[in-house]
Amino acid sequence: MPNAHITGWGMAVPEKIMTNNDLSELVETNDEWIRERTGIRERRIARETEFTSTLAVDAAIRALKVANVRPTDLELIVCATSTPEYLFPATACLIQDQLGATKAGAFDLLAACSGFIYALNMAAQSIRSGSIKTALVIGSETLSRFVNWKDRNTCILFGDGAGAFVLQASERPGGVLSAVMHSDGSGGDLLTLPAGGSRYPINESTYSEGKHHIQMDGKEVFRFATRVMASATQEALDAAGLKVEDIRWVVPHQANIRIIEAAARGLKLPMERFIVNLDRYGNTSTASIPIAMVEAIEKGQIANGDKFVMVGFGAGLTWGALAAEWTGPIPSKGHVHPEQYRRLGRVRSLVRRVIRFIEGLLYRREL
Ligand code: COA
Repeated sequence: MPNAHITGWGMAVPEKIMTNNDLSELVETNDEWIRERTGIRERRIARETEFTSTLAVDAAIRALKVANVRPTDLELIVCATSTPEYLFPATACLIQDQLGATKAGAFDLLAACSGFIYALNMAAQSIRSGSIKTALVIGSETLSRFVNWKDRNTCILFGDGAGAFVLQASERPGGVLSAVMHSDGSGGDLLTLPAGGSRYPINESTYSEGKHHIQMDGKEVFRFATRVMASATQEALDAAGLKVEDIRWVVPHQANIRIIEAAARGLKLPMERFIVNLDRYGNTSTASIPIAMVEAIEKGQIANGDKFVMVGFGAGLTWGALAAEWTGPIPSKGHVHPEQYRRLGRVRSLVRRVIRFIEGLLYRREL
């Protein structure tokens, strides 16, 4: 059975920074309160021309470059996102088109902030089963578009960004070792984005009631999160036949420093073993774990042979953890230039649209 290795990684965040002081001009809050209660100092906010797919493509191109993999080698693209661009088409298909990944199947995965762990597990299982060899897994978000900037309970928490991993099959040991996924829909009302689906299609009344904004019971979500972080980590370790002492790093969902501290206490691990960067990005939902990973890898914190666990929780309720051994890129020859595929992808996409238009005209004439 082949193993699924993380061979490429990349992240992309908008340039625009919103500090806690900037927020205090929008709602009654202050830097001290936000830092003490959450650990967050600032977050990134997408410009009007930045979308979930464009951030994802920027992150993906960087990941493909590191892995030295062409977009046309991809067989699967999974985009975990809580903020898709449309209900359909899937954001993963927009990414597929922009990358020029002509041989890839593509779908979105919605498990809220646990989405990246779910998606990584799904792609790893596809590789381990032998059905595919190369996959792209992305967590990408533009949460700023769904935040109520007048609600100080939620607007202080979230930010925008994307992170991407390339996964490849290899017989060498390591890569993804185990994963666990959980859900409890009875807590679905604790964190919701009610309008825009088939139950509450957006209309004047959903709009005036603010149902198109994120709504959250912060205290209950906090209580749930502190309960599941350590237990899910332990479960993933048990499934991989590892002990807490065997892992070098825990990469937690970056929601609130106090939740991460509770997980550290639960696992009896020092905070130095946790990768934390939420002070600079806030909670970027599905993107938070890959962004934290990418920064840690680029700082040289994660070395070959290191074992680590990624652990997350989110709306649904969902939670999960994934244990892996870091192995880095698979040695390969030459240098691919994925950004050229992006440029060509634009032309290819346009040509396909023109052909489809002409075919449509001919087909109608035949009728
Ligand atoms: N700025 C200043 N004061 C604020 C505030 C803000 N942004 N938000 C709330 N307050 C006030 C409250 O009104 C309350 O005042 P009161 O005591 O006079 O009533 C006080 O601060 C405490 O509020 P509380 O809601 O109890 O704060 P908290 O310690 O529970 O922190 C959260 C609130 C949202 C930061 C915290 O509950 C949390 O992080 N929950 C998890 C959320 C999460 O991670 N969601 C994403 C999941 S993927």
